Amino acid sequence: MEGIKIISTGAGIPSKVVTNEDMSRIVETNDEWIYTRTGIHERRFCGEGEDCLSLAVSAAKQALERSGIEKSEIGCLICGTVTSKYASPSTACLVQKALELPEDIPVLDINAACAGFIYGLEVARGFLAAGEKKYGIVVGVEELTRVLDMSDRSTCVLFGDGAGAAVIKAEEGTLYENCLGAKGGLEIFIEGVGSEKSTVHMDGKAVFKFAVAAIPKVMNTIFEKSGKTIEDVDHCICHQANARIIDHVVKKYNAPAEKFYKNMDRFGNTSAASVPTAMNEMWEKGMIKPGQTLLLVGFGGGLTMAGALLKFEG
Ligand code: UT7
Repeated sequence: MEGIKIISTGAGIPSKVVTNEDMSRIVETNDEWIYTRTGIHERRFCGEGEDCLSLAVSAAKQALERSGIEKSEIGCLICGTVTSKYASPSTACLVQKALELPEDIPVLDINAACAGFIYGLEVARGFLAAGEKKYGIVVGVEELTRVLDMSDRSTCVLFGDGAGAAVIKAEEGTLYENCLGAKGGLEIFIEGVGSEKSTVHMDGKAVFKFAVAAIPKVMNTIFEKSGKTIEDVDHCICHQANARIIDHVVKKYNAPAEKFYKNMDRFGNTSAASVPTAMNEMWEKGMIKPGQTLLLVGFGGGLTMAGALLKFEG
């Protein structure tokens, strides 16, 4: 089977830092409540001139520049997002235009909520396997502030904006195993096009319960399919929704906590952007080395769940 590996990463990080104290001036909340329940101290919101599209362009551009790959070699562009600026055209088509990528390649957005980047990797793998070109760009981007109800303290303190991207390479025989699924359900939802309002609604407890079961389910499936174990994984990068969810997984696998990166303290939950921005931050800090094995795990709206075990080529 033709697998995929990560060649390079990039990010589009919004300029506006919003602390828990800032949030406490908007809704009745405080740093103690937010931090102990979620591990979040602050998040980034889009500032002047920033939006879902500009963040996606920055992330994809940075990943492409770092890859050293010619634009003509890119065979597909996939954006995972639930907050595209336009319902049509897709964010991906506008990123394609901004980066002047080839016109004869598949370019589309996918909606798998917080699992969007990992779903995007598999969609890109499929396109690359079917085509001639071997490189693709996958982006996870959200401007969640466009859909936050700033009077609902149970949701508005949790989320942030951001974008992360990766250039991937399809290669015969490279380590790649994945698990994609969905349970269905309206435990988290955002009203669609034509609705009077469009805001995030979430039954936090139900999603928490789902997450702590879904992550090990995805991981175990991948370990079974690949014959690998948690010991074979250098870094496990989970969706950054809640530190307590990740702690739960660490405990379940009796794994070293350092294997499970966390950065929700500074970025909050950025949905589809959380896994690729965390991966990019780790690479920038020199934590991810060429040849290492990554396990990416996401879960979220739709009650989607996704995981990918793959190599970072660097
Ligand atoms: O990316 C999608 C994936 N999403 C997730 O993974 C989210 C998963 N769920 C969670 O992370 C947690 O369920 C939350 C962090 C959302 C909530 O934590 P919780 O421990 O389940 O808290 P709770 O919902 O039980 O809220 C407890 C109390 C309530 O007050 P009463 O009714 O007990 O008096 C809330 O009204 O906390 C209150 N509350 C707040 N208090 C201060 C809710 N939001 C806030 C707030 N500040 N921001």
